[in-house]
Amino acid sequence: MTVSNAPRPSVSNGQDLSRRPGIEWLIGIAFTLSVLATIGLGITYWLGGQPQVEGALLFVALGGIGVGVVAWGKYLVPQGPYVQERHELRSEDLEREAMHASLARGLHQVQRRSFLLRLLGAAVGAFGLINLFPFLRSLGPVPGKSLFLTNWKPGSRLVTASGRVVTANDLEVGGILTVFPEGYENTPMTAIDQVVLVRPATTDLVTRPGRETWGPRGYLAFSKVCTHAGCPVGLYQELTQQLLCPCHQSLFDVLTGATNVFGPAPRPLPQLPLYIDAEGVLRAQAGFDEPVGPGFWERGA
Ligand code: FES
Repeated sequence: MTVSNAPRPSVSNGQDLSRRPGIEWLIGIAFTLSVLATIGLGITYWLGGQPQVEGALLFVALGGIGVGVVAWGKYLVPQGPYVQERHELRSEDLEREAMHASLARGLHQVQRRSFLLRLLGAAVGAFGLINLFPFLRSLGPVPGKSLFLTNWKPGSRLVTASGRVVTANDLEVGGILTVFPEGYENTPMTAIDQVVLVRPATTDLVTRPGRETWGPRGYLAFSKVCTHAGCPVGLYQELTQQLLCPCHQSLFDVLTGATNVFGPAPRPLPQLPLYIDAEGVLRAQAGFDEPVGPGFWERGA
């Protein structure tokens, strides 16, 4: 604090502010623009997002707060330097009047600034709130029962991705086909429903005890979703009777129920029990008897 006999500038701060009546408006507009841009950002993100629009709105949202805060600090906060004069203990009448006038102006400024303070709070609060959107939206849809159940039901007909019904004459020995339960070949649930159909032989195949009827006329069906990380297991090596997952080279032996014989897959591919109806169409006896793909259960084979 400097002590001086310089001419008294104590009233000058209030006068400086009154010379800039548009500053509060500028700050208010900046904060308001920030709030509006933040709301726009949230709506844009919620509707699917558009990088250029989101970038522009983010610029306005942050820029509005920045401009408002800088202008506030530069024009509304007293800048000094402050000079305290030596004077008698009792102020002169003129000084007392000046002080009262200054107090009145200060009260006015405080009232106006409380409004700006609320606008600043709204801008920062809205921006903080909108930052929760990516987190909430990235959680994705609720999985429901899809972690445990697929759309394969007793009697489901096997169809190709184009919806064509698969019959017992469709595959030669050594053939492979990706199939879906009829009615679900073009739905969002397709990923967990996809099944790889192979034909290692023309006679009934038994992969494990208890599955005596699951492989009619040499047809075997397994979930196509790898039990390691969920890649599609789409390569069939007829010579070794193995299915290969191209992601991390897990191998599954089809003749023993797609048991995992190599690679990081922790368990076999679930097998879909099949039968052939009177018209020669391949159908599922039932759904899978265990969850498909990788999952939190991650039990061993
Ligand atoms: S996802 Fe199949 S081996 Fe990794």
